[in-house]
Amino acid sequence: MLSKKEIIKICSDYSHFFKQSIKNMKYEAKGIFNSEMLLLVALTKHLNVNLIIESGRSRGQSTKIIAENFKDQKYKIFSIEFTKYSSDIRIAFERLKKYKNLVQIFGDSFKILPKLISEECVVLIDGPKTGALNLTFQTLQNPLVKAVFLHDTYKRSLNRNRIDFMFLNTFSSDDTKYIDKFRNLDKYCWIDLRRYKNYKDWGPYRRGNRKMASYFSTLTVLFNTTEGFMKEPQKSKLSPKKPKKVLKFSIKNLLSGSLSKLKRIYLFPIFYFSYEKTYNRIKKIDYKDFFIKWLNIIRINLKAIFLKRVIKDEYS
Ligand SMILES: C[S@@+](CC[C@H](N)C(=O)[O-])C[C@H]1O[C@@H](n2cnc3c(N)ncnc32)[C@H](O)[C@@H]1O
Repeated sequence: MLSKKEIIKICSDYSHFFKQSIKNMKYEAKGIFNSEMLLLVALTKHLNVNLIIESGRSRGQSTKIIAENFKDQKYKIFSIEFTKYSSDIRIAFERLKKYKNLVQIFGDSFKILPKLISEECVVLIDGPKTGALNLTFQTLQNPLVKAVFLHDTYKRSLNRNRIDFMFLNTFSSDDTKYIDKFRNLDKYCWIDLRRYKNYKDWGPYRRGNRKMASYFSTLTVLFNTTEGFMKEPQKSKLSPKKPKKVLKFSIKNLLSGSLSKLKRIYLFPIFYFSYEKTYNRIKKIDYKDFFIKWLNIIRINLKAIFLKRVIKDEYS
């Protein structure tokens, strides 16, 4: 498992080559930003895989960056796009036709992507937008997939909330340290982006007047490990030492640090049902099992709120 520090170091070591690869590259609308793509390219090099599969090509911004960085013929690149007849596709075709190891495929990634996984690989998902997390789950079932990179995972989005809740081994490009180090790569992306009518008021941490908790759309990497998914709730791993009881029941004292615990309680049913339906593909929900687990979550979190104790990852 790579630590945040290691991931930033891997990206930093590769950033010089990356800068060369994007020199003079025009940004195309709907495309993934350079700082986000650095994460994918550097980690893919680190994971030492020769197959890269992309879902959602549009005008081929991310595709071109991948193709430039993995030009060597030992690499195979598949890019899947649902829409066949549109001006975006023509733009992508013109930009990408010179790369001989890149195959532009048309169709639905839900059907096509699993069939393309023939060796160790990484997968980038930037379309479909609806059902992207389901496609991620489906893709991570295959142990040949070393990592999935999922786009549009900015803070407070539904996908990001679910990822933070269910996965242990992830890293997102909106990490403050990461962004401080690599946001300079996006200078021309911002300039080019604002040329498009719909995005002219967008900027770092804002979309028009709307403030965003993340720097931009955000790319999250989900490493494929057997223990990567949400685990069965087990007995609380609270410290065996008797914790100091804090008996100051002021509102401030009760609320500080409690919101995340309350969130775990009320979001549990949503995550439980979607997890059982999508990942475990359970048709009939076992309500007894659900209530036992939910009561356990409620018990652990309420206890932590009232006794002001720290819960150490109650799912591990
Ligand atoms: C945001 S764009 C991709 C942008 C591209 N990655 C880039 O950086 O330039 C999303 C694309 O995903 C495509 N898409 C949507 N659903 C899809 C599916 N099920 N399979 C493949 N592509 C899909 C859309 O047609 C759209 O062109």
